[in-house]
Amino acid sequence: MANLDSDAFVFFGATGDLAYEQIFPALQAMIRRSHFNMPIIGVARSAKGLEQLRGRARESLEKHGGLDPDAFAVLSAKLQYVNGDYGSQQTFRDLRKALGGASRPLYYLAIPPNMFETVVKGLADADCDKGARVVVEKPFGRDLASAQELNRILHRSFLESAVFRIDHYLGKEPVQNLLYFRFANSFLEPIWNSNYVQSVQVTMAETLGVQGRGVFYEEVGAIRDVVQNHMLEVVALLTMEEPTGRDPDALRDEKQRAFRAMRPLTPADVVRGQFRGYRKEDGVASNSQVETFAAVRLHIDTWRWAGVPFYIRAGKRMPVTATEVLVELKRPPQAVFDTITQSQANYFRFRLSPNVSIALSARVKVPGEAMVGEDVELLVRPGSDDEMMPYERLLGDAIRGDSLLFVREDGVEAAWGVVDPILGNVTPVHEYEPNTWGPVETEQIMAGDNRWHNPHLIAEKTQVAKLK
Ligand code: BG6
Repeated sequence: MANLDSDAFVFFGATGDLAYEQIFPALQAMIRRSHFNMPIIGVARSAKGLEQLRGRARESLEKHGGLDPDAFAVLSAKLQYVNGDYGSQQTFRDLRKALGGASRPLYYLAIPPNMFETVVKGLADADCDKGARVVVEKPFGRDLASAQELNRILHRSFLESAVFRIDHYLGKEPVQNLLYFRFANSFLEPIWNSNYVQSVQVTMAETLGVQGRGVFYEEVGAIRDVVQNHMLEVVALLTMEEPTGRDPDALRDEKQRAFRAMRPLTPADVVRGQFRGYRKEDGVASNSQVETFAAVRLHIDTWRWAGVPFYIRAGKRMPVTATEVLVELKRPPQAVFDTITQSQANYFRFRLSPNVSIALSARVKVPGEAMVGEDVELLVRPGSDDEMMPYERLLGDAIRGDSLLFVREDGVEAAWGVVDPILGNVTPVHEYEPNTWGPVETEQIMAGDNRWHNPHLIAEKTQVAKLK
């Protein structure tokens, strides 16, 4: 069964934000690339009928990436709608009917996690789970215990090989490039360890606030929303050993070892912030303690990384929208020419969003009599107009049963284990001004002469030409 493609695409939450922003555009893109030919069934409560759902699909495409009339005509023709409450058996009987002869449906649960159990049970009771796969959105649970419980619920009806825990960061081209770059070049390996690396920073900054998602955000906050998943996944890819083989489990086994080596965070390792004005957002409590910013200091207990601090920051209403990794190398042991400070140390910089770039900074002599230097960056910026969007890539993979870019049961639990001790209000939340880099307290978790590196919209000067 594992190597057979799914033969129907069913998405719960068809009228929700995720369907609107990601699923319809991904479906249109898959149709355009013409590797998608199966019924599409949207399940929801709030659309009045199929025409209304088609209207929403059209609007979604107009707003997110553009409508392709030919692909939309195909999407529209394949689209079916099952209307009903997830708690009602009738909904699942209707779904069974809509599935017709399909025997290997893919179910995408684009719904709040508290509905997962009801839907999984509904699918099983109506005999819709046979031969099926299920895609589950992040955050997968609220903490370690609830993630374990969710895994138990899913495994009552689905084998692990049929469960696809989605983290769209893993479908991003630049994130894949990070993994590729590490293991496709031999020059990194000798220095990729605590002998040469001073510290590693990962920053995910967004200028936007919570964009009307106050109710959702109140339930999660930055740590659950992006640190437990996107940020720790990036750290795992940066720190893991090379996979021994190409099968999905070879990669996921190594990632798992990386997760397990992450020392669980303690309150002293975290600073939480909340932007001024968050409490006035719709759906947000007037005394909310939920963080819209988090900075953590993480340690990885392996020979390779012992003693290297990993600084991770994620926040809303920051000065720029950018996700960036900075691997700072140790300064030369002796300053032969001008003084070299840590901030001038060599580094590798990986821009993961909004554009891809990989930069290596170096110090070079300024032309002139004096032996004084300046910092320059050698920059590679791969890119293509035809880049696959993460949801298109991941949904295509799930349809084919390829689990490489999905989070395994043990991986999701290990990642929760890292953040579990800092969840809830175990640390204070500090207010910060919008359009700043978070609360001043963030400096406290920096050790020694390490400094936060703020990604900026760089005037990228020095380019390295692509070799033929
Ligand atoms: C989502 C979070 O997973 O990732 C959002 O729920 C966040 O809060 C988003 O804005 C960022 O994703 P991207 O792809 O725009 O970097």
